[in-house]
Amino acid sequence: MPAKPRILVTRPLPPPAIKRLEAVAEVQVLDGERPSNETLREQSADKHGILALLGARVDEQLIRGAPRLYAVSNLGTGYDNIDVDAASKHGVLVTRTPGVLTETTADLTFALILDVARRVSEGDRFVRAGTWASGQQLPFGRDVHGATLGIIGLGNIGTAVARRGRAFGMNVLYHSRTHKPAMERRLRLKYLSLDDLLKQSDFVVLLAALTPQTKGMIGEKQLRMMKPGAMLINVARGSMVDSEALYEAVKDGHLGGAALDVTEPEPTPKDFPLLTLPNVVVTPHIGSATTVTRQAMMNLALDNMIGALQGRIPRNTVNREIEPQWRQARKQRLAAR
Ligand code: DGY
Repeated sequence: MPAKPRILVTRPLPPPAIKRLEAVAEVQVLDGERPSNETLREQSADKHGILALLGARVDEQLIRGAPRLYAVSNLGTGYDNIDVDAASKHGVLVTRTPGVLTETTADLTFALILDVARRVSEGDRFVRAGTWASGQQLPFGRDVHGATLGIIGLGNIGTAVARRGRAFGMNVLYHSRTHKPAMERRLRLKYLSLDDLLKQSDFVVLLAALTPQTKGMIGEKQLRMMKPGAMLINVARGSMVDSEALYEAVKDGHLGGAALDVTEPEPTPKDFPLLTLPNVVVTPHIGSATTVTRQAMMNLALDNMIGALQGRIPRNTVNREIEPQWRQARKQRLAAR
């Protein structure tokens, strides 16, 4: 029987998942929650596969230093943590886990809209601190129903948020790389340029993928274009927003508040300036974090890892165009051990 490929799992997984992997590979599991980039690079050096969990960074240096590597399975739909160009250049197949987290992440997005609009977290702190009991009144929130929702990025999750917006009686606008006329008709959405969407929305929701084009896309200029009192909700990636400019725009009252499931950096530092503002809600990157959805993501990431290790091109492959050279590289790298 040929020797099994070696794989690195970048943080602990439940025993049944490890067992599935052990049936086809020699498995090394890193025990910390967030291994440093240095640890990831060192421990990947002799591996054929990496199961990259929730943001583990697979950069060019790691890929260059892992000459036997041929498959990276990313647990997550976003894959900005993986240098896909470098992976393709070095014959490494990259997969991800889209689809299974769509509705769950849309739920969280809507929870954040409602929270910041209706001061839910703020109200909870208000009660716990005894401020209500001392006779004070929480400032009023704002209505979500009937308001204008502007979605930046109309992929699966953006579309699921649009459906929720319509069900809440919202007027829904979107800005995306591509026009989606069929979806516009079906959900009664309106496509606008980024600037017009920012000018017209009461709630601006970021759901685009992080790319060189979207990195830093919401800076001071864009925030100041937003309607006075509007709110920004980011469930995409922290580095798409200039957090200092956002802090200023909320603090001086231009914006009515913000809700962020993602920040740059993560984990969010305790002294992150936006945490000092009462009308800012920050959650710890939990868009997909329900038991059922994380299990589904895990199953898909394992299917992808096992499929690629065994020479199949999983459906959720990001760089399937490298297939011919990948097949050759896989054989050579397995033979080299
Ligand atoms: C995703 O799936 O992209 C989530 O943000 C987790 O990283």
